[in-house]
Amino acid sequence: MSQHSCMSQDNEQAKSAEERAWELVSQMSLAEKIGQMTQVNGGSHELHQAIREGLVGSVLNEVNVEEVNELQRVAMLESRLGIPLLIGRDVIHGFKTIFPIPLGQAASWDIDAVERGAAIAAAEAASSGINWTFAPMIDITRDPRWGRIAESLGEDPYLCGVLGAAMVRGFQGDRLSNRESIAACAKHFAGYGAVEGGLDYNTANIPENELRNVYLRPFKDALDAGVATFMSSFSDLNGVPAAGNGFLFKEVLREEWDFNGFVVSDWDAIRELTVHGFTANDRDAVREAVNAGIDMEMASGLYREYLPELIAQDYVDEQQIDNMVCHILKLKFQLGLFDNPYTDPGRFPRCVNEEHLQAARAAAMRSCVLLKNDQATLPLSKEQLDSVAVIGPLADDGYEQLGTWVFDGESHHSHTCLQAIHELVGEDLEVRWARGMETSRCRNHDGFHEAVQIAEESDVVLMFMGEESILSGEAHCRAEIDLPGNQEQLIDAIAATGTPVVLVIMAGRPLTLQNVADKVSALLYAWHPGTMGGPAIADLLFGIESPSGKLPVTFPRLVGQIPIYYSRKNTGRPASHDSITHIDDIDGKAAQTSLGMSAFHLDAGFTPLFPFGYGLSYARFEYRDIETSATHIALGDNIDITATLHNTGDCTAEEIVQLYVRDLVGDVTRPVKELKGFRRIRLKPGESKRVSFNLHTDELAFYNRKMSLVTEPGLFHAWIGGSSETELGTEFEIVASPQVAD
Ligand code: GLC
Repeated sequence: MSQHSCMSQDNEQAKSAEERAWELVSQMSLAEKIGQMTQVNGGSHELHQAIREGLVGSVLNEVNVEEVNELQRVAMLESRLGIPLLIGRDVIHGFKTIFPIPLGQAASWDIDAVERGAAIAAAEAASSGINWTFAPMIDITRDPRWGRIAESLGEDPYLCGVLGAAMVRGFQGDRLSNRESIAACAKHFAGYGAVEGGLDYNTANIPENELRNVYLRPFKDALDAGVATFMSSFSDLNGVPAAGNGFLFKEVLREEWDFNGFVVSDWDAIRELTVHGFTANDRDAVREAVNAGIDMEMASGLYREYLPELIAQDYVDEQQIDNMVCHILKLKFQLGLFDNPYTDPGRFPRCVNEEHLQAARAAAMRSCVLLKNDQATLPLSKEQLDSVAVIGPLADDGYEQLGTWVFDGESHHSHTCLQAIHELVGEDLEVRWARGMETSRCRNHDGFHEAVQIAEESDVVLMFMGEESILSGEAHCRAEIDLPGNQEQLIDAIAATGTPVVLVIMAGRPLTLQNVADKVSALLYAWHPGTMGGPAIADLLFGIESPSGKLPVTFPRLVGQIPIYYSRKNTGRPASHDSITHIDDIDGKAAQTSLGMSAFHLDAGFTPLFPFGYGLSYARFEYRDIETSATHIALGDNIDITATLHNTGDCTAEEIVQLYVRDLVGDVTRPVKELKGFRRIRLKPGESKRVSFNLHTDELAFYNRKMSLVTEPGLFHAWIGGSSETELGTEFEIVASPQVAD
């Protein structure tokens, strides 16, 4: 087998890294090669000796910089070839300064803020000796029952791809060898977000067309952004677990996409091939994983045990091992680890410094989504109020507001909502406080009386409800996604006092809020907002800044509607508001066909509670005068789609202007809408701006029945607006030859 080129981008750094990597491979014993393919969890007692013997290529979950430097010293000075270690960690949405969970960051639709957050996370992590993060997680999911939706960037391939690429740039910087850069990892390849039932680790059955048109797109964007590594998913895709899936890691990733970084398995995922029933034993699992293209094994230690005999018996080709080791060594050279393996924390910005905290505050502020604001309840005015009642288990909990996947953030750095409200209003307002419930899952009424009492005494109630961080994230799936515990009852009791209620929800997923949305005057969704969630939310509640976030994921009315998402297919019988009947409105002895024959649920209809892309502002934004630069364009051309955004409100605010397109006819059915562009625009009261999107026909390509990526001539609709439900639309046609274009 020829030497598979490790070459990635055609630049001097990659060439020298590749040449240096191949030179090193040629000096290595088989045991040392397999050592590079082995990642071991930190803290194990035989780790130093294994490193000394050249049997470890990477360590994960060691964050003590002195210990990391000692591990690197052993690797560099006490092993035969002196190969430095990759030090991996889940730095998902911050290291010490915690940013909103990725689903919250996605709600900001703010490319720069997302990139900045990743860069800060990288700098803080690098100061501990970490040089590789297992992020961004770019699994598309349309199932909020799945706990890992919290780590995702939502339901849409375009938004996820753009923001995932921003995280890659943030983590990796403009050079991997920069001191504050760390290698990124696109995970979990692929289709993990489509697990059946929203049940983690479950099977995912995705037709190849859908896989390519939806689930693979963000991974290609991450690869195009230069992501250094990929991670295989736990789940089986169409019956083939990812850690043994040669279609994903050989055909797509290497042959089609020409990826030349390296692939790491997820934790223990290679051993789990036997648990899946894909292999009969560990030896077979190793054979399948290596031959599928998994370069490095995380945690299970089977490569070291079985690869020598598999190679000796020709089940695995040593040339292939050389290629895999070269992928790994090339990254170590690109990171500059051979020249700078040690970390001096004093050469990094202090963690949780003021600049980092302010970036986290800005990110949290831009992540919050205003879902309801009746009678302009918000923003609150210190001048017009005498008192506020703060109620709820998440109002003053610096740990829970951090969210899932926070291994290194510390709650004592958090600024809570209660603290921030006190700081913001000072003595201008009386702030009354009652927890109301011990935890979000309480099933008693112990704290209700006190909460009701302060609500009755106050001008407005601010309730901070939702999910603790443990209720989302890996392995934390829910079959019902209402507010947990007695929260709805507490909200009912507080609403019954007649004092206006502002409900702020912190959660790691969309919740079904149909039972509470009508009971409150205003509803602000804060996800898990991170270290600076309190000041960010307080600033929004009191109008220092207007909310600007937009939903990156659809909110169902009922869990039974899942999967429900905006870029759905039209079906042969699409529902419409005038064609459906609610279950409570059906006449007795109704005739079989009397309810209309279209795609809706009798008890839920066909629309979500809140749609993808939706979010209110304190300003009032209006969209007018959409137009295209041409009515017909040829394949290979560009078209401009433009509309005017007006701020007819009375405050300055930012709006995320969205462009959606529909391909009316396709070789396979196409979605009724697809996001193809967005822009965050700040307008003063009375200000207007023409917002134009330039679209190339290649951006309308999709995989057809032959799995060819094509743009087909035909009619297209386009819309511009502030949510996926925008109706400000136009159309244009793509024609096969330039002659008939405008
Ligand atoms: C976990 C996760 C993966 C993470 C890895 C290391 O089980 O699935 O996302 O990066 O193990 O912690």
